Amino acid sequence: MSWNARALEVLAAGPPTPLVDFPVPTPGVRLLLKDESAQPTGSLRHRHARALFRQAVLDGLVGEGTTVVEATGGNAAVAQAWFARRLGLPYVVVMPGERSEARARAVEALGGECRFVTPPLAIYDAAREIDGHFLDQFGRAAQHDLAEELFGQVRPDWVVTGAGTGATSATLGHWLRSHHPAGGSTPSAADASTPSAADASTPSASDAPTPSAADAPTPGAASGSAGGRRCRVAVADPENSAYFPGWTLDSPDYSTGMPSRIEGIGRPRIEPGFRPDLVDLVIPVPDAASVAAARRIREVTGLPVGGSSGTALWAALELVERMRARDETGTIVSLIGDAADRHLATYHDDGWAAGKGLDVGKHLDELRRRTTV
Ligand SMILES: Cc1ncc(COP(=O)(O)O)c(C=O)c1O
Repeated sequence: MSWNARALEVLAAGPPTPLVDFPVPTPGVRLLLKDESAQPTGSLRHRHARALFRQAVLDGLVGEGTTVVEATGGNAAVAQAWFARRLGLPYVVVMPGERSEARARAVEALGGECRFVTPPLAIYDAAREIDGHFLDQFGRAAQHDLAEELFGQVRPDWVVTGAGTGATSATLGHWLRSHHPAGGSTPSAADASTPSAADASTPSASDAPTPSAADAPTPGAASGSAGGRRCRVAVADPENSAYFPGWTLDSPDYSTGMPSRIEGIGRPRIEPGFRPDLVDLVIPVPDAASVAAARRIREVTGLPVGGSSGTALWAALELVERMRARDETGTIVSLIGDAADRHLATYHDDGWAAGKGLDVGKHLDELRRRTTV
């Protein structure tokens, strides 16, 4: 078997990650968390890494012996190092700032090499200068395999995700529109943000799926539709991110120039992989609410999730609230992006939150009211 054929076997989709019930006190509304921390490298980035490697092999950009390069300080590096090791390829990641043992350790344990550069924005140029193939997760933002897997498991009314590269929301939106074009009369960004447009496309109680949807693969789940209506994609966006204002104003060049405090999601500018036309709603989430919601997930599941899982949960609970107010029923899926012990010293730590000026307590009280356990 050729190297490429073997590589494509390694890069085939893995087993599905679980859906976890997150009880809410709203009759007829079901909230499920899709737990991407169950990936072999502990995060949703596992899917991005697989898709980027797969595309590079198919395009002939990566072959036997190619050094693979990326610029990132986050989970992407661990996932990419994992695949590089399985493919027997050298892997180099350029990380921002001074050397951090915590960040380097996981990559180096997988045989990868970390190079730290300052200032942080120099990582992209530094990566381009390395002799090898620059995966470029922002520039290439390959769609991945979450949508196919998720809609084979459940038939939700909403999926809530964050946006970093934009790949996940684009993957979900693209899959739903290509598998269920009839329900695809997507409102424009500006329309969908107005209550009247959202009202018009909201599922009624009678056509919502039954609460047993996640228990077993639902017949017809692959259509991605709830009772003939297309599932919708909501992006949960943290403070400082350009996605909410850019989507609301229909302005692809919108820039805040400010870094997000929620690792993995929220960007100072609209990245090329973000597809506003494939997103139905963008929900802004205060950082204190993201942190509180990450803690609530840990209280309920035991998982030390990152802040981005909290951002998605807070937005999902806003949708639950909207459904309750409108007397609707249905199923919402929200993503757990990752879980790691290193988050215990940040999002789950009172001193860290106080140092950032985040009033977590008030949001946590609200979350305990909005979720029943
Ligand atoms: C909850 C959540 N949503 C989405 C993402 C990633 O979004 P994208 O595919 O836009 O990079 C992450 C992080 O990887 C995440 O943790």
